[in-house]
Amino acid sequence: MQLSNVQTKLMLGNIYLNQIRKKYDFMEAEYLSMQDQLITNAPPVLEAQQLTRHYSVSQGLFRDKGTVKALNGVSFTLKKASTLAVVGESGCGKSTLLRTFNRMFELYPEQRAEGEIMFNGKNILDAKQDLNLLRARIGMVFQKPTPFPMSIYDNIAFGIRLYEDLSRSEMDDRVEWALQKAAIWNEVKDKLGQSGLSLSGGQQQRVAIARALSMDPIAMLFDEPTSALDPEMVGEVLDCMMGLAEEGMTMMVVTHEMGFAKKVGSRVIFMDVGGKILEDCTKDEFFSHPENRQPRTLEFLSKILGH
Ligand SMILES: Nc1ncnc2c1ncn2[C@@H]1O[C@H](COP(=O)(O)OP(=O)(O)OP(=O)(O)O)[C@@H](O)[C@H]1O
Ligand SMILES: [Mg+2]
Repeated sequence: MQLSNVQTKLMLGNIYLNQIRKKYDFMEAEYLSMQDQLITNAPPVLEAQQLTRHYSVSQGLFRDKGTVKALNGVSFTLKKASTLAVVGESGCGKSTLLRTFNRMFELYPEQRAEGEIMFNGKNILDAKQDLNLLRARIGMVFQKPTPFPMSIYDNIAFGIRLYEDLSRSEMDDRVEWALQKAAIWNEVKDKLGQSGLSLSGGQQQRVAIARALSMDPIAMLFDEPTSALDPEMVGEVLDCMMGLAEEGMTMMVVTHEMGFAKKVGSRVIFMDVGGKILEDCTKDEFFSHPENRQPRTLEFLSKILGH
């Protein structure tokens, strides 16, 4: 039986498409492995060594002489210009880990801490470390947007004034620069005098990001920055974070947004209950090579991706 002209063309078209697809898959794999190499060879910014954290409690599921072990011998490296996604079930210690990096953890009474975080050859957990300076240089964005009850302009300028003595025009430039970087300048440039509280949740979160950026941080910590937002505002905050990642900001992001971790993350840390790191690998390894993952990781992924 002879093939009609149309059938032949369709067949050839399919062969051609398959060839393009294969080439594209090959290029994508090449690109991912180049990205992995770049991150692997990048210098470390912060190196966590054997971090262990306990909270004192009167009762609790993981009770051990009146304490909860929230981190258990956690060690890993945050490389320059990388985005590290920290994932894991509720209560596994993700927030505690982030709070350790800017020493917010110490605000909790009766906590106990061991381990080191090295930056430029110095341990930032050292008693001599200037805490305010540390919190300026390692910016943090929380789950709930936290605008100060002051103007949008002052929400940014407030922190800068603590560390730098800028002229009015220098301050204007810095405020604009930070709001631009947080992808919110166009929305607020005509109402900088209005209260930060008048903004929507997504806008408030981007102002919080701008505030942290304005102090020229060496790294940014994000603790589930979109989980308290209305769904329609999640995208604008994730887009803002993607922009920062593309510009080479070093970031550690606790997230349940696996799409974000897949797209933007350089590496993924998977934590298990009891504050242990179960996986520390590239995002490609984490999402595309189930044969190399631990059973607990696969269980978590099937739960979270099944939604
Ligand atoms: N202030 C506190 N006092 C006592 N125990 C605490 C305190 N904060 C956290 N914990 C306990 O420490 C462990 C780790 O908590 P953490 O908040 O770091 O987990 P998480 O992974 O961020 O959870 P989630 O995904 O729900 O935010 C949990 O067992 C939690 O109950
Ligand atoms: Mg948390």
